[in-house]
This record gives sequence, C-alpha cells and structure tokens, in this order.
Amino acid sequence: MIERPTAAAHRVVSEVVKAGDLVVDATAGNGHDTLFLAGLVGDSGKVLAFDVQQAAIAATRERVDAAGLSGRVEMRHESHGKLLERAGRGRASAVMFNLGYLPGADHAVITEVGETVKAVVQALFALRSEGVMTIVCYTGHPGGEEEAAAVVAGLKKIRDEGGVRFELEIGEAVKEKAPFLVVVRKL
Ligand SMILES: C[S@@+](CC[C@H](N)C(=O)[O-])C[C@H]1O[C@@H](n2cnc3c(N)ncnc32)[C@H](O)[C@@H]1O
Repeated sequence: MIERPTAAAHRVVSEVVKAGDLVVDATAGNGHDTLFLAGLVGDSGKVLAFDVQQAAIAATRERVDAAGLSGRVEMRHESHGKLLERAGRGRASAVMFNLGYLPGADHAVITEVGETVKAVVQALFALRSEGVMTIVCYTGHPGGEEEAAAVVAGLKKIRDEGGVRFELEIGEAVKEKAPFLVVVRKL
C-alpha cells in the first residue's frame, strides 16, 4: 500500500522525537499534527504550534484539550515567520509543516511562498543536530506548485552552499497534483 505523505511525516518524526523534547508544528490547522507531537514529547516536553487563523488556533486547542494534553502545547496565533525567535537556535528535535489551506475553512487563506520559505530556512537553524523537518507540499491549488518548487529550490541551494549541513529527501507525488513529502535531516 502506498503511504500517504502525512502518514510518512508522522513515521519519520516518531523515529526521532523523544520525551522531553521541544518540537514545532509550523502550521497547526485542525491540530492533527500538534496532537500527534504532544503525544510524543511527554509531560516534560513542549510543542510550539503556530497558525495565523483564529479558527485553526481554536480547533487545535479543542483537540489537545480533549486529549488532556494542553499542558504540553503552547499555541502561537502568529506566523511561522516567528519560528526561530520563539523556538531558539539548535533546540528543536522536529519541525512539521503541512502547507496549503485549512480544510473546512476559507481556502483563500493559504501558506504563502515568501513566508513559507523564510520559515523553512528558520527551521533549519531551530533544529538541533539530528533533528528532522517534514514539509507536506500540495500542488493542486493556485500557488501550490510555485510554493513547493520554491521550498525545494531554497533547500537545495542552502544544502549545496554548505552553511547548514543536512540531508534532503524529496518524495514523489503518486500522481499529478498529489501532495508529496520533503524530509530534512540535520546532520
Ligand atoms: C494544511 S493546513 C495544516 C493542517 C494541520 N497540520 C493539521 O494537522 O490539521 C495549513 C495551515 O497553515 C496555516 N497558515 C497559513 N499561513 C501561515 C503562516 N504564515 N504561519 C502559520 N500558519 C499559517 C493556515 O491557516 C492553515 O491552518
């Protein structure tokens, strides 16, 4: 069976994150990834969860509250452009991005290429050595293809320049316009 990019992201992250870790959900949305991360970090860990939409903040808060895990999650109603400032340098063991729009909400509010690339670059610095970043990219909505291409090109450029050392895995979409997963493993 083909593994969905969101499931693959969870598998990759669960192999790295340990109890007590600091982790980041850069696009909280409906809170599925935040809840998943809160389960991994344990009572002594912390999830920083960003979203620019009030509806996403509310949905995520409700989901983690219902699971009794709100003590592990710090919700940030602001752009992931603040990621490095909030998480600090070299501390996070995982950063998850799930790009595009919030399912069930206004499809006009999407992640934007400039802000996304800026936050992905910040995440490279926020990660600790052997930390992992996952980025689920969508190409089926207007601007999605350009955003995905800019993320991949930006990461390749930084990797090739060698300023930050990391391995880059770019997943394949199962068909045209299907989402795909990018994985960054910091060395
Ligand atoms: C595909 S959804 C995320 C789904 C989520 N990971 C989940 O598990 O339910 C993308 C989210 O990114 C948010 N977003 C868009 N621009 C953002 C930004 N600059 N900073 C943080 N979140 C942003 C949107 O509001 C939306 O909720």
